[in-house]
Amino acid sequence: MIGVGLVTTAGISWLFLLPTTFHEMSNPYLGILTAMLLPAVFFLGLALIPLGIWLRWRGEKAKGSYPTEFPPLTWSSPQLRRLTVFVGTFTVLNLIIGSHTTYSAVSYMDGVTFCGLTCHTVMQPEYTAYQASPHSRVECTKCHIGPGAQWFVKAKISGIRQVFAVALNTYERPIPTPVRNLRPARETCEACHWPQKYGEDKLRTSTVYSDDESNTAKKNVLLLRIGVIHSAHLREGVKITYAPSDEKRQVIPWVKYNDTVYRAPDYKSDGPGALTTREMDCMDCHNRPAHAFELPERSVDRAMWQRGISSSLPFAKKTSVEVLKAAKESAGVPSAFESFYQKNYPAVYSQRREEIRSSATRVQAIFDRNIFPAMGITWGAYPNNLGHNDFPGCFRCHDDAKADTAGKKITQDCNTCHSLLAMEESSPKILTDLGVEAEPAAAKPAK
Ligand code: HEC
Ligand code: HEC
Ligand code: HEC
Ligand code: HEC
Ligand code: HEC
Repeated sequence: MIGVGLVTTAGISWLFLLPTTFHEMSNPYLGILTAMLLPAVFFLGLALIPLGIWLRWRGEKAKGSYPTEFPPLTWSSPQLRRLTVFVGTFTVLNLIIGSHTTYSAVSYMDGVTFCGLTCHTVMQPEYTAYQASPHSRVECTKCHIGPGAQWFVKAKISGIRQVFAVALNTYERPIPTPVRNLRPARETCEACHWPQKYGEDKLRTSTVYSDDESNTAKKNVLLLRIGVIHSAHLREGVKITYAPSDEKRQVIPWVKYNDTVYRAPDYKSDGPGALTTREMDCMDCHNRPAHAFELPERSVDRAMWQRGISSSLPFAKKTSVEVLKAAKESAGVPSAFESFYQKNYPAVYSQRREEIRSSATRVQAIFDRNIFPAMGITWGAYPNNLGHNDFPGCFRCHDDAKADTAGKKITQDCNTCHSLLAMEESSPKILTDLGVEAEPAAAKPAK
């Protein structure tokens, strides 16, 4: 009877909640209710019914209250016909409700809302970074689980462990990377990208603002040789394995390229020894495709380039970076920025208060985008391995120190990975030749 009650309650609720399941559920609590609680109640009820029947049957049998012989089962018996119609109708109905709720549960758990918002504090840093990433329209599960039932089940099993870790408050802050047992890129990234396709060089410019009073802007211009970079590590017949000596894979004393072994000068052993090895794939360079956190200098440069922080305010670059590095919490950031001008440039402060205020708000936005005190995330907590300016990145291997037995090194030649067309120049000739203004007047749209 309890089972019937539960199934009926769940069935009626299902009918009422049915319209909400046709849209993507943007409210995590409504999602938990319809996609998880409802099926749980429904299936619990369904399981209780046969259990009840069996218990009753056992009890009656033990009491000996059953007749020793039942009347023969014939189709002409009206009771049997009614029972068959009843059971048949409700089985079909239950199959419809059951398969629909199972389907919505699975697709809900695949959704960005479920991954990003259900455990709000825990996932907030990754979710925030993700929304500003080139993959903001790619579901979390496309990279973290990928296709196929086997990884789905694996993910749900580790999910149960994570639910306990959150409930008992035993999870690590920040969440450690690299993610252990992340599915190989071959089966996730390469469902959408394939390395052979990225064969073209790419011209890249970036603007760096100096620490001086006038925030002098300088340009880097490089031609990134993406085709060479990709094919050097990923083409048919190349296999690179490496052995990092630290948890974060930032120090790499041993690299094997097909049959050639490159070793750091102070690393004696021929093999990886006690270190765990890893075969290089997309994620060893693109380790933050969806969750890149920036360092203060770089994010301030970008905000100034986008005119979010005014580059005509004296010492705007230096002040922004100092405020960001010193701040412990978001709320104090705008006032710290403003008080610099109040104290040191009272005339500027009184004349350009709006400009200072909106710049201060943008500095705060940089803080909110990158720093998450509740999760222990401060500047540089998650190194980005693409490049070599902020973190060791490419230079973990291309350090001009590791050598093979013949003394050949993994190159650090500045023009192997890119042609450096201009480095920190205020008006690079290459850009004028291309007809590009070094500092266009129109503000770039904010990303
Ligand atoms: C384009 C692929 C991609 C997408 C989409 C993606 N991630 Fe990730 N994520 C990664 C990679 C790669 C790493 C591992 C970095 C490493 O191991 O160094 C990672 C790491 C993480 C980590 C571990 C902590 C950290 O920052 O390294 C968390 C938590 C995480 N992702 C959550 C999410 C959530 C939540 C979403 C959706 C809102 C999401 N991810 C979407 C690729 C992705
Ligand atoms: C479900 C498909 C999908 C998956 C899986 C996926 N990506 Fe992407 N990726 C995209 C799309 C779409 C874009 C283009 C976004 C744009 O141009 O706005 C993109 C863009 C990129 C870019 C260019 C970023 C830029 O700044 O322009 C890189 C690098 C990249 N992906 C790497 C990866 C890596 C590494 C993985 C695996 C961890 C991965 N992607 C998984 C769909 C995917
Ligand atoms: C050795 C390091 C390395 C590996 C391994 C690597 N990439 Fe890249 N990839 C780069 C660099 C460097 C760039 C240029 C980044 C930039 O534009 O700032 C790049 C650019 C890209 C882009 C953007 C292309 C464009 O035109 O903007 C995509 C997409 C991409 N990689 C996907 C992948 C995928 C998928 C894999 C794995 C099959 C992979 N990469 C493996 C270093 C690597
Ligand atoms: C895990 C180690 C490792 C990392 C990390 C790494 N590489 Fe490499 N790379 C190698 C090895 C090994 C070779 C082949 C050296 C040889 O020729 O024997 C190589 C070769 C190259 C080549 C070809 C060099 C030539 O002389 O033709 C380029 C270009 C390159 N890497 C770019 C990059 C870039 C860009 C990054 C960072 C985004 C990067 N690599 C990160 C190990 C690495
Ligand atoms: C192993 C490959 C490799 C080598 C060797 C290398 N670089 Fe780079 N460099 C990169 C990559 C990849 C990027 C782009 C990173 C990104 O996408 O943000 C980069 C970016 C840069 C930038 C631009 C930073 C910015 O964002 O404005 C400068 C400047 C630079 N490199 C200087 C050098 C100099 C100087 C050398 C020689 C000592 C050198 N690089 C050697 C791979 C390399």
